[in-house]
Amino acid sequence: MLVLGGTAEARELADTLTTRGHHVTTSLAGRTRDPRLPAGEVRSGGFGGAEGLAAALRHIDLLVDATHPFAARMTDHAARAAAATGVPWVVLRRPGWSAQPGDRWARVPTTGAAAGALGDAGSVFLAIGRQGVHHFAALEQVRLVRAIEPPDVLPPHAHLVLARGPFALDDERALLAEHRIDTIVAKDSGGATEAKLVAAREAGVVVVLVDRPAPPGGAEIVSSADAAAGWVESTPN
Ligand SMILES: NC(=O)c1ccc[n+]([C@@H]2O[C@H](COP(=O)([O-])OP(=O)(O)OC[C@H]3O[C@@H](n4cnc5c(N)ncnc54)[C@H](OP(=O)(O)O)[C@@H]3O)[C@@H](O)[C@H]2O)c1
Repeated sequence: MLVLGGTAEARELADTLTTRGHHVTTSLAGRTRDPRLPAGEVRSGGFGGAEGLAAALRHIDLLVDATHPFAARMTDHAARAAAATGVPWVVLRRPGWSAQPGDRWARVPTTGAAAGALGDAGSVFLAIGRQGVHHFAALEQVRLVRAIEPPDVLPPHAHLVLARGPFALDDERALLAEHRIDTIVAKDSGGATEAKLVAAREAGVVVVLVDRPAPPGGAEIVSSADAAAGWVESTPN
């Protein structure tokens, strides 16, 4: 089977299925140098659109789209390639986050909308990864940008931290204090990078949270690697 990866859940799924004796190939986009690798086979790089993926599916029985909730293009290609080939597919999406008492969240529909919503936001920490930083390129409020790989552009007063999550709560508290952060911009990714939201709640820091794109219509969605492994083992191929 083919697992479209790039997430902790995709690695967990490949590890589980390989342990149970399945033949798994995980596909990575190939953007991150030195990625964390799952068990089983790994391929790297784009397929060349939905048509390219459909061609690759000729040798595949089952497809699991375990890409990041914000990798909307890949998910759209997976839906179209599965429809064109008849290969059964499922989307593995971890749940998004829910606000808790004390949270000061403003939800926005897109990363571009987050940039437009900042106004007088004080010192801003961009915790959206490398992609989308260009929307903030002219904004002087941005004081801190964190990503695994450097973004193509940086806002004029931004300090760049290159690091890979998940991050410990104490480290997130220290980062917010050191840079006197008033506002965090984050994606509603869900999962283990939640410590920044906890630190923001404690410190009264505002969070501008970008909503995840909707999955394609008709997609079957499971929310954990365990559930995806169950789908694989119960789906005839
Ligand atoms: N977006 C995020 O915030 C985010 C965060 C953490 C991890 N990631 C991971 O980073 C990768 C790229 O994310 P993205 O947002 O750039 O994706 P995207 O915008 O949805 O996809 C752009 C193109 O990258 C290629 N691609 C993406 N994921 C791939 C995969 N798993 N295997 C092979 N090719 C892939 C495809 O190229 P072709 O059209 O040539 O096939 C796709 O059309 C994904 O694997 C995702 O899981 C993304």
